[in-house]
Amino acid sequence: MSFDVQKIREDFPILKRKVNGHPLVYLDNAATSQKPQAVIDCMVDYYSNYNANIHRWVHTLSQEATDAYEVARKKIQNHFGIIHPEEVIFTSGTTHAINLVANGFSSILKKGDEVLVSAMEHHSNIVPWQMLCERTDATLKVIPMNETGELVMEDFEKLLSENTKLVFLNHVSNALGTINPIEEIINKAHKVGAAVLIDGAQSCAHIKPNLKALDVDFYVTSAHKMCGPTGVGILYGKKEWLEKLPPYQGGGEMIKEVTFEKTTYAGLPHKFEAGTPNIAGGIAFGVAIDYLNEIGFQEIATYEDGLLSYATSELLKIEGLKIYGTSKNKTSVISFNLDGIHPYDVGTIVDKLGIAVRTGHHCAQPIMDYYKIPGTVRASFSFYNTKEEVDKLVEAVKRAKMMLS
Ligand code: ALA
Repeated sequence: MSFDVQKIREDFPILKRKVNGHPLVYLDNAATSQKPQAVIDCMVDYYSNYNANIHRWVHTLSQEATDAYEVARKKIQNHFGIIHPEEVIFTSGTTHAINLVANGFSSILKKGDEVLVSAMEHHSNIVPWQMLCERTDATLKVIPMNETGELVMEDFEKLLSENTKLVFLNHVSNALGTINPIEEIINKAHKVGAAVLIDGAQSCAHIKPNLKALDVDFYVTSAHKMCGPTGVGILYGKKEWLEKLPPYQGGGEMIKEVTFEKTTYAGLPHKFEAGTPNIAGGIAFGVAIDYLNEIGFQEIATYEDGLLSYATSELLKIEGLKIYGTSKNKTSVISFNLDGIHPYDVGTIVDKLGIAVRTGHHCAQPIMDYYKIPGTVRASFSFYNTKEEVDKLVEAVKRAKMMLS
């Protein structure tokens, strides 16, 4: 389809509302995306017409719900280029998926093993690995970044050795927008026999990866970053890895047979899906994927790149404004500060004008420490944002500067 932003905006009911008397300008898409009517309708339809628990019951409603949930798994499989549907594990989101893998590696890692994490990770891709290293006596090492917000690849290569067992990093930095060279990282890590986990939470709305072609070992993401609901996400793992890892949570659904003496576990994917999942969320995740593919990821990327360059050049016209994360390879995220002004104050003033941006450390404190700043103002753009909204942001930031200097 041809890209018609005004038509696309009609799909998002929330974009019609006002905030503090002004039309909403939603520029916090890296925190969570807005939901199109099709996704909202899908959830209402599930609860209105076929709400039932899945997999275990013979009655019609349960079968309808199970079928819809498994159709969603298939859609996710196809979208991400995954070979087997059972390699798609539904989770409550990216954090749950990372913790599942980190927990599994507790029984694999030993003293002397090393795990590498990038310097530009979200806390959810730092803390679980620190906890894993504490449990196993493995060592956590950091791939450093430079002033432009890119990973220092020579240092990455120097860190790799036969002791490296795992490498974890985000495809895109949530705080800076940098797109990391994951193909190169996966290839080099595999040469020393290390497994790689890619956190796709910030890339999935902008880049459609082919996980088979990437040959990545694990990939995790959340539906709510890509127009789907909160509380649902996925862990993709290569079958041989998922078979090797122990279950994360015990409960119903993940067993084959239970006696008080011994329990045997179900096969994939159920081994990792204990308890009643977010059924409506899983089904709606599939609808969100359909919605985005109908627009087209190439069209989305081209449009967002245009917004990013326009917003970057307009914001840089403001004297004293500094952008953090200046890689040429970026998604539509701009983190910035005004000289001598706290980001929180800027965020508060622009909110009064109806503009939603995120302020603070963005759950990536090591990045803020690197730049020696308390945080930034982050504007993150989606395909439903417009140049007029960029202009409103620029005007609001100028106003904040005038009021706070
Ligand atoms: N990780 C989300 C963000 O960057 C919440 O805002």
